[in-house]
Amino acid sequence: MAIQHVNQSDHSFDVAMARALEISADGPTYGVNPQVGCVILHPVTGQILAEGAHHGVGTPHAEIAALTALADPELAKGAIAVVTLEPCNHQGHTGPCSQALIKAGIATVVYGVKDPSAEASGGAEALDAAGVRVIEGVLADAVERHLRVWLTAVRLQRPFITLKWASTLDGRTAAQDGSSQWISNRESRAHSHLLRSQADAILVGTGTVIDDDPALTARHPDGTLYDHQPIPIVLGRRDLPPAAKIFQSPITPIRYQQHSPSEALSEMFAHGIRHVIVEGGPTTASAFIGDHLVDEFTLYLAPKLLGGWRLGITQIGVNNIAGAHELTIDVLERIGDDIFIQATPKKGPRPEYIVEAI
Ligand SMILES: NC(=O)c1ccc[n+]([C@@H]2O[C@H](COP(=O)([O-])OP(=O)(O)OC[C@H]3O[C@@H](n4cnc5c(N)ncnc54)[C@H](OP(=O)(O)O)[C@@H]3O)[C@@H](O)[C@H]2O)c1
Repeated sequence: MAIQHVNQSDHSFDVAMARALEISADGPTYGVNPQVGCVILHPVTGQILAEGAHHGVGTPHAEIAALTALADPELAKGAIAVVTLEPCNHQGHTGPCSQALIKAGIATVVYGVKDPSAEASGGAEALDAAGVRVIEGVLADAVERHLRVWLTAVRLQRPFITLKWASTLDGRTAAQDGSSQWISNRESRAHSHLLRSQADAILVGTGTVIDDDPALTARHPDGTLYDHQPIPIVLGRRDLPPAAKIFQSPITPIRYQQHSPSEALSEMFAHGIRHVIVEGGPTTASAFIGDHLVDEFTLYLAPKLLGGWRLGITQIGVNNIAGAHELTIDVLERIGDDIFIQATPKKGPRPEYIVEAI
């Protein structure tokens, strides 16, 4: 047998994969493990027999959770497992999922995207060698989009970088006197705090800590903290005021007293950090953009004009129009009177992600 790539016109497993994706969102968005979902289907009727999702390091993988959820283990014999990510092939905390599926008697495994991690990949080959029918690539674009943070981090061996700023329509992130609270509206700020609560870390330069003294916590609109807090990270050589608010964060801040984003990112990856939101200021943001280290931009544009020189970014190594960094807008939404944009550096054909017209 050989691993089969799903045919574009074959949609028979799409509904089950969409459900696996939906339940995968129950798992945490942060940490070293991906969000994965699995549904087990009856081989004849296609009825869902069991479902499972992974809930973070140390908890069962989605396939094991789904197998465990079966009313009777005998139901696995000859059944179809539909899982968002290729089943792992390594011992880890929980043992290889490929072996558990084989042992349970699963006859067909359908997955969305191949596992790129060196230690866990090879599950498809192990299943195939054991005589299990393997089909890959079902709803691959949707799974790729859903797992983009984790997949990018593992493929590039550095954290996924989201660069965030809030600016006026004329691109200013502060007024001439340095005041910047608040450029975006209350709902935009609540939205950005929700995104903070889903990331591993928030990074700023020393200038932002010294000028603005941000707490870098993820807070609900009433000021209370989200259960998950990102690690505050500061890039830059200067010492910070001991009374800076980041030192009151529930998570001990990490300092990188240097200027190299890529070196800092390698250390972060080794630390288990997979998703960093870079929140400025302009010098730090420009360093990440100039080094082509930004995977996603999240921008809040407020219907205000400030003029002056305090722009969101400074020099990014572009001298002429031909050198412009081109982006694809993936999400365009109104948040109250503000505009929220999520964009990615352009590479290859435009992805068919939802773009909501204003
Ligand atoms: N509206 C917004 O979204 C927003 C967000 C953040 C900040 N801001 C505004 O931005 C202003 C601060 O601007 P800023 O540019 O000074 O902030 P910054 O980027 O936070 O800090 C700049 C400092 O970071 C260090 N640094 C780290 N990596 C570097 C690199 N690769 N190259 C050069 N320096 C590096 C340097 O300090 P060392 O000398 O210590 O190494 C540099 O002076 C604040 O007044 C704030 O209001 C606005």
